[in-house]
Amino acid sequence: MACLVVAAALVAASSASASAAVSPRIIGGEAIPITDAPWQVAIVKHSTASAYYGQFCGGVIVDARRIITAAHCLDANGDGLADPGITRDVVAGMTDLTSSAGLPAQRVQIEAWAAMPGFDLASNAPGPHDAAVATLEAPGLDLSGPEVQPAALVGAGELTPSGTSVSVSGWGATTTDPNNPNPYPDVLQAVVIKTVSDPDCASYFPGGPFDPATMLCAIAPGKDSCSGDSGGPLNLLDGTLIGLVSWGPQECAAADGSPGVYTELAEPSIAAFIRAPQSIAAPVLTGTAKSGAQLTCQPGSWASIAAGSPSIDFSFATSEGVALRDWSPDATYTLSDADAGRHVVCTERARDASGEATSTSAASAAVVGPPAPAAVTSTPTPAPTPTPKPATKPVDNVAPRTTFISIRCRARRCVVRVRVADRGTPVSGVKTVRITALPTRGAVRTVTARRIAAGIYQARFSRVARGSAWFTVATRDIAGNRSAQPAIRHARVR
Ligand code: ARG
Repeated sequence: MACLVVAAALVAASSASASAAVSPRIIGGEAIPITDAPWQVAIVKHSTASAYYGQFCGGVIVDARRIITAAHCLDANGDGLADPGITRDVVAGMTDLTSSAGLPAQRVQIEAWAAMPGFDLASNAPGPHDAAVATLEAPGLDLSGPEVQPAALVGAGELTPSGTSVSVSGWGATTTDPNNPNPYPDVLQAVVIKTVSDPDCASYFPGGPFDPATMLCAIAPGKDSCSGDSGGPLNLLDGTLIGLVSWGPQECAAADGSPGVYTELAEPSIAAFIRAPQSIAAPVLTGTAKSGAQLTCQPGSWASIAAGSPSIDFSFATSEGVALRDWSPDATYTLSDADAGRHVVCTERARDASGEATSTSAASAAVVGPPAPAAVTSTPTPAPTPTPKPATKPVDNVAPRTTFISIRCRARRCVVRVRVADRGTPVSGVKTVRITALPTRGAVRTVTARRIAAGIYQARFSRVARGSAWFTVATRDIAGNRSAQPAIRHARVR
C-alpha cells in the first residue's frame, strides 16, 4: 500500500511539471476550439450568470431544440429527483467559458428534460441507461455557424470494436490531485483514448455497476475524462457520436488503468430513446369522475426531431395499471358503473419517423358510482323541478401539481423550494402554497410559501428541531382545486 502511494505521488509530480509547460490540461488532453467539437455544449445553472461557474455537466446537440446528456446530470443537487429543466441552460459555441466576448456563443434555457426510464435517479448512482433528453425553449439553437452543429449519431446496433481510437471532450476536472485548488479549465479540452472490451472493463469493477449491454469503456495511460465532463461526447475520430461520459473510478486516469465508462448510444433501447418524441407537458384528464359521465384526455405537448408533428393516440387505465380502453385516436372515455371507485389515468402516445413515446396524466378523483338502490320501498317522491342547466363554460377542475426542488437545512434553518404547476383548461392560477414541517421531535409548523420565480415557491423555517423531519406541501388554485395527494419529503436537520 505504502508503495502504491509513493508511486502515485511520483506520477502526480511528473505530470504536474509536464503540464506546467503546456496549456491547462484535461487529464492528459489538450485545449481545442469549439469548432473542433461543435456538437459539444456546457450545461449550466440558469441562475449563475458566468458559464464557467455555472457549468456542471456536458451535453451534445442532436438538433436545434434537442440536447442529450447523462441522466445523472438531471439531479445536480442530489435530492433523488430531476431538477426542473427551467433551472438549467445550455451554452453552445463557446470555447473559453470565462470569455466575456459573447458571440458566437449561444445560451438557451432548457424547457423540459427527462431521464431514460430504467436509470435510477433516486440513488443517482452509476447504472444502466445513463442518458437523458433535454428540449430547449423554442426556437432553440441557431445551427448556421461552424461553432454550433449537431452530432452525427451512431446507428442502433453499430457497436464499436475494442481498441478503437476515440475522442472525449469537456470542461471537467483536469486532475484529481487534492492539492490542486482549481482543477477546472477555462478552455474546452479533448483527449484521444482507446475503447476497452467489455470483459476487460468488467475485470476492473468486480461486483460493480458495469453493465456490458448499455456501457462502453475507454482509457489510455494518463488520459481520461473526469468529473464535470459527464453527459459530454465520446466520438469516433470521424466525428460519429458513440457515447456520453457516465462514470469511472474515483481517481480519474487511475494508475491501475481503470477505464472511464460511457453510455453506449448504439445500444438499441438507448438509440431509440434519444430519437423518440419527448413529452414537454403531460396530458390532462378533464370531466366529472362519475358513472355515466365522459372523461377527456386533453393532449399534452411534444418535441420531436422528425419533420411534422407526431401522430397521437390515447389509452385509459386505472391508476394501478388495469387497462380500461386500448389505444385509439378517440380522446374520450365514458365511465360506467363498473368504474365506480376507480382512479382513472389516460396515456397519450406520440409516434413519428424517429420513434415513439408515451406520457401519462395525473389520476382522476375516485369515480362516483350509481346511487345505491333504496332498501325499503317508500312513497315515490315527485321528481324535482329540473334546474336550468347553466351554459357550459370550461372550468379549471384540475388540481395543481407540486414537486419538491430542494430542502436545505443548516444550523436548524431549512429552506424548502417546490415547483408548482397549475393545470386545467383554462388554468386558473396558483392561489396558495403551504408547506408544513413535521420534525420527528418538536412542533409541527405550517408556512405560506413565497413565489420566487415562475412556478417556484420557497418557504423558510427557523429553529427546527435537530434530527429527522418530514416536509409536506399543499397547494390550492384560484378555482379552489387542492393538490390531490400532498407531496411529502424527508430531510435531516443539522
Ligand atoms: N460522473 C462524472 C461526472 O459527473 C464523470 C466521471 C468520469 N470519470 C472517469 N474516470 N472517466 O462528470
